[in-house]
Amino acid sequence: MRTWAGIAGLLLASVAGGLLFGVVYSSHDGLLMGAYMLVCGGSVVATVEVLKRQRGRARSLARQLATGVAVSVGLTTVGVGVIALLMFVSPHDGLVMAVLLIFAGALGAYAVAALSRGPLDDLRVVRDGLRAVGEGRRTVRLETGAQDELAELAEAARRMVDQLAQGESERDAADRGRRDLVAAVSHDLRTPLTSLRLLSEAIESDLVDAETRRDYVEQMSLHIRSLSALVEDLFELSRLEAGDIHWSLQRVALDELVCETVEAMRAQADLKRINVATAVPADLARAWADPERLQRVLFNLIQNAIRHTPADGSVTVMAEPNGTGVEVEVADTGEGLGDQDRDRAFEPFYRGGNGGARSRGGSGLGLAICRAIVEAHGGRIWFADAPSGTRVRFSLPAA
Ligand SMILES: Nc1ncnc2c1ncn2[C@@H]1O[C@H](COP(=O)(O)OP(=O)(O)OP(=O)(O)O)[C@@H](O)[C@H]1O
Ligand SMILES: [Mg+2]
Repeated sequence: MRTWAGIAGLLLASVAGGLLFGVVYSSHDGLLMGAYMLVCGGSVVATVEVLKRQRGRARSLARQLATGVAVSVGLTTVGVGVIALLMFVSPHDGLVMAVLLIFAGALGAYAVAALSRGPLDDLRVVRDGLRAVGEGRRTVRLETGAQDELAELAEAARRMVDQLAQGESERDAADRGRRDLVAAVSHDLRTPLTSLRLLSEAIESDLVDAETRRDYVEQMSLHIRSLSALVEDLFELSRLEAGDIHWSLQRVALDELVCETVEAMRAQADLKRINVATAVPADLARAWADPERLQRVLFNLIQNAIRHTPADGSVTVMAEPNGTGVEVEVADTGEGLGDQDRDRAFEPFYRGGNGGARSRGGSGLGLAICRAIVEAHGGRIWFADAPSGTRVRFSLPAA
């Protein structure tokens, strides 16, 4: 309670007490009662004020409460004793008053001690829990015994610890991801760089004839092309993940875009004698997308399909409406994906299959880039169930 409220309450009580005794008994009794309440109450308020000021040095809440009760009861008892003397109360009546006062004080002290035990226990629970959190534990029980403000404090602390733990685990996962990425990038850079170094050393030494030299130069330009593609893909993925890309969203006619992309890849498919077909209705709703990036998604998916489909197989690109937007699918009649590959294929640098499948080029960034692009459009990408081969589907919002 505020000091001024205490003083105002005391003044009111003293005037009321004085008036009551003045009216019922005599003005002498009224004055005596008013003065007693003022002096006794004033000493209690003043002492409590002093105790409040010293709170900064207090070490125990229980001791602060006990001191407050002891001071109030002690001062009241002294005041009543003085009044008893002034009123010439008989020793018998004085003793009765003293015993009653001490008894009332003891009951007050008992009540404070008993009622403060629960809140103090709750406070200790919160204190010990937060100490454990400070020492690194993240699973602490902050159970309190009531529904009061201390329970709210414990609940707030619990939420804080949960958020802390979640933030830490997200940070750990991001750190792990970064470390894995750096390891994968270094590995993928090291292999072609080592080949380049060996080839250039061989060319520099005069040990190889002109034809071998030409062959080595060709190999070098192949390595340089794959290194450039890797660096470009990495750059694209990091920009996509950082949201550092300008999207030029517009109405896209999927039938035209799909045909254009398929035609651009037809030569590659023909080389493997793979038939590429499209099935996109001309009246399909327009998609709301960035055409260049969308083409990149189709390109990556069709390239994967061609890469993983044996000669004389086929690849089909189709699109259809799906309630709120459109869905596009690239299906092939290739080897398909195992369960483990399906779960991880969208991770950067993940290359599935056995060593043989891995050696077919590719850095494992294609599907990660597709996912980042599709999700930036507000869609999603997944492997649909297929009895054989692979079906990759993605959704896009309609314009
Ligand atoms: N159509 C598919 N059929 C079978 N497996 C596939 C198919 N598409 C993807 N995968 C598997 O998923 C893995 C990841 O594909 P992703 O496109 O991300 O990488 P990549 O094709 O190996 O390399 P990049 O696309 O960077 O050239 C592939 O290595 C392959 O194992
Ligand atoms: Mg790929």
